[in-house]
Amino acid sequence: MPRKIVAGNWKMNGVSGLLTQVVKLKETHPNPGVDILLCPPATLLSRLGEVAHPTILTGGQDCHAKLNGAHTGDISAQMLQDAGASHVILGHSERRQDHGETNADICAKADAAFAAELTAIICIGESLAQRETGETLAVLETQLSGSVPDRIPHQALIIAYEPIWAIGTGKVPTIEQIKEVHDFIREYLINRFGETLAGATPLLYGGSVKPGNAAQIFAVENVDGALVGGASLLAADLSPIITALEHA
Ligand code: PGA
Repeated sequence: MPRKIVAGNWKMNGVSGLLTQVVKLKETHPNPGVDILLCPPATLLSRLGEVAHPTILTGGQDCHAKLNGAHTGDISAQMLQDAGASHVILGHSERRQDHGETNADICAKADAAFAAELTAIICIGESLAQRETGETLAVLETQLSGSVPDRIPHQALIIAYEPIWAIGTGKVPTIEQIKEVHDFIREYLINRFGETLAGATPLLYGGSVKPGNAAQIFAVENVDGALVGGASLLAADLSPIITALEHA
């Protein structure tokens, strides 16, 4: 069985005041069956590690494909690891859009993440136009083929399905749509990597996950957790989402 994970993606939000939100999170959720991962802006990674409960995992939101060098403003996977991160989000649709990241870029970043012993959370998702023209599964397959490296060390892979039209919009796919995609991703991973890796890879749903819809989403087979944006900024919102996964 894959690990169950609630991952918070703070995006470009948060100065140090936000850290007070997470100090008590693990005390409220001591359940070791659910991993809590917080991905703050890189500037807060070290400090988050200092104030949060030691079992709260931390991650970056992106890394460079190179291990080091003359890349002004960029952050390497090793730097994230040095700041306490165990995970890194890669290929989020906002990075694909804002920075023109291609599947090949994301694949190279994932290799860099693995070299730094980070778990890569590779994000995939279709646009509304692609959903409406029935291209969803084809788009996702192209993203998976192009952005997931062939060699995955130590089961260090997580896939997050995030329909672009559901991110930050309050719109959520139907339960049937989520199930269709998550079953498809599991099957894809089985065919490409075999049962062992596929069976150990958490599949997260992301896009407008809130306290009010989390339980329904987590009840879907092959949904092992969530990548949460807006609702991860307040412990009062994130906490019931974690509770929903504990009870799933
Ligand atoms: P949202 O963002 O929960 O605010 O929709 C999710 C994400 O982009 O990871």
